[in-house]
Amino acid sequence: MNNSIGQEIRELLKLHNAVLLAHNYMRDEVQEIADITGDSLALSMEAAKTKADVIVFCGVHFMAESAAILSPDKKVLLPRPDAGCPMADMVTVEELEALKAKHPGVPVVTYVNSSAEIKAHSDICCTSANALRVVRSLTEDELIFVPDRNLGRWVARFVPEKRFVFWEGFCPTHERMTVEAVQRKKSEHPDALFICHPESAPEVSALADHVCSTSGMYDYCRASSARKFIVGTEAGILYKLRLENPGKEFILASPALICPNMKLTSLEDVLYSLQTMSPVVTVTEETRVKARQALDRMLAVPRD
Ligand code: 13P
Ligand code: SF4
Repeated sequence: MNNSIGQEIRELLKLHNAVLLAHNYMRDEVQEIADITGDSLALSMEAAKTKADVIVFCGVHFMAESAAILSPDKKVLLPRPDAGCPMADMVTVEELEALKAKHPGVPVVTYVNSSAEIKAHSDICCTSANALRVVRSLTEDELIFVPDRNLGRWVARFVPEKRFVFWEGFCPTHERMTVEAVQRKKSEHPDALFICHPESAPEVSALADHVCSTSGMYDYCRASSARKFIVGTEAGILYKLRLENPGKEFILASPALICPNMKLTSLEDVLYSLQTMSPVVTVTEETRVKARQALDRMLAVPRD
């Protein structure tokens, strides 16, 4: 970080006792300046335990909402309030309640890529890093999985003893990665391993050597003796993969793997947000308390 905007941001972070969190899909320069980068699980845990007075969340709206749910005494800033998630918008409370009414007593497992309101109407949350552990932690043999059909179906393969009711939501960015695009990359780089995110379509995940969350990809590539990887998730992940693995090569599986929402936040937005202490993300107390129960239940699931 050698620019003056970066220095101004750092000074304002110090002045306001603020912490800058950035998701692994953020622009390179935003990840570079962040105090903590991570996947949805790591960032929500960080939001829960930080001693800072202010959380500047470089990510999308549902992530900042999760921080506000877990840290009610802190101010949560989302530098780009228009950074949403189309998958999170694919389910409304009315639709979810109608589905629950059709399956009385069946617990709802909700991927964190969802609004605070949807979380408040759920039994337990999960992220892509802990979805399987969360599902296994349930004693019931049937569950409703919301909103990502691809993550849900990927998890379901490992727990054939449970019945799933899937919500048909999806991530448009990951679903733009086609089998043809992946096969083209595989034939261009026959010596590469293919890793992809479980938000990918099932026929794409079926081609992968490893399917995991964004943080799982860092761990896998660091530990692997392979030198070349075709990466099936949002392009922002390449920044840290390349930084941490100088001798290894990373190839994006498809040029379509760019989430327009994750690319909105610029350093100028972060600076403006710290200068104005806005936009603040809030959640009503009633929703917050209920959503927190679902998030806390997730955070209480033991790690392997
Ligand atoms: P993870 O960081 O949990 O793997 O998230 C993927 C994602 O799509 C976030 O929007
Ligand atoms: Fe939503 Fe997909 Fe973008 Fe993540 S990558 S924010 S799931 S649209």
